[in-house]
Amino acid sequence: MSLNIRKLHPLFVGEVTGIDLTKPLSRDDAAAIESAMDDYAVLLFPKQDITDEQQLAFAMNFGEREDPHGGSVAKAADARLTTGVNDVSNLGPDGKPLPRDNRVHLFNLGNCLWHSDSSFRPIPAKFSLLSARIVNPKGGNTEFADMRAAYDALDDDTKAEIEDMICEHSLMTSRGALGFLDYTEEEKQMFKPVLQRLVRTHPAHGRKSLYLSSHAGAIQGMSVPEARVLLRDLTEHATQPAFVYVHRWTQHDLIMWDNRQTMHRVRRYDQSQPRDMRRATVAGDAPTVAQQAAE
Ligand code: OGA
Ligand code: MN
Repeated sequence: MSLNIRKLHPLFVGEVTGIDLTKPLSRDDAAAIESAMDDYAVLLFPKQDITDEQQLAFAMNFGEREDPHGGSVAKAADARLTTGVNDVSNLGPDGKPLPRDNRVHLFNLGNCLWHSDSSFRPIPAKFSLLSARIVNPKGGNTEFADMRAAYDALDDDTKAEIEDMICEHSLMTSRGALGFLDYTEEEKQMFKPVLQRLVRTHPAHGRKSLYLSSHAGAIQGMSVPEARVLLRDLTEHATQPAFVYVHRWTQHDLIMWDNRQTMHRVRRYDQSQPRDMRRATVAGDAPTVAQQAAE
């Protein structure tokens, strides 16, 4: 059976069938998927009952694995999963939903805010591949926004105004927006802000995207309140329903998205019940802007 893609939204998002992700990919299929990613920005692969190893092997067709260090307050020693995938579940090492007041759980709620993965890293992520192992019974849809379409729809004055803006991104900004404010000295060091362009250009097709994320909390050369008002306005614009695809998960769906041209968020779900989602992350290959020396 050969690869087939059906469009799920007028602007972006394709559903890919005719491929088995438990098997190594042919060079042609890998190239076809990479090129479909450039175009669709989000691809759904339904009915892919895969192991963590198979998920990582599939992801590695598109680049290196991103080093997960510095992306969480969870201690590596307490990890539920040791296979190399990111644990995006609500589960503790015992396989049960984390207590409501658990610090890692509270930190992970940041995924409910619109973001682009690893925009808090000097070299942010390229692709993320999220596999649904256990679907939560209530809520937990994941939403994606097309940041190319959002950029295109800006008026010319705004495009000119923001073209060269540089933002500061930190995990403490997104978590801080939810009232998560207490960090150890080590975490403060780890979560120090990094710089990202506000407008980025896709390396394959050259379309521009609004590079927004809840991690963004400041813009160079602007007061913080003015920057945050602008970032809020742009985010509101970029996440209007016309630019958003809502995904209702079925077990064994795998969704792959391009963090360079989309944002995403998960909606609230029943925290007393499991939601087991696992993410393989493909590292980016360049910063969006030169980083300044620290401080
Ligand atoms: C992620 C993420 C959303 C979800 O894996 O990067 O934001 O639906 N996940 O769990
Ligand atoms: Mn994410």
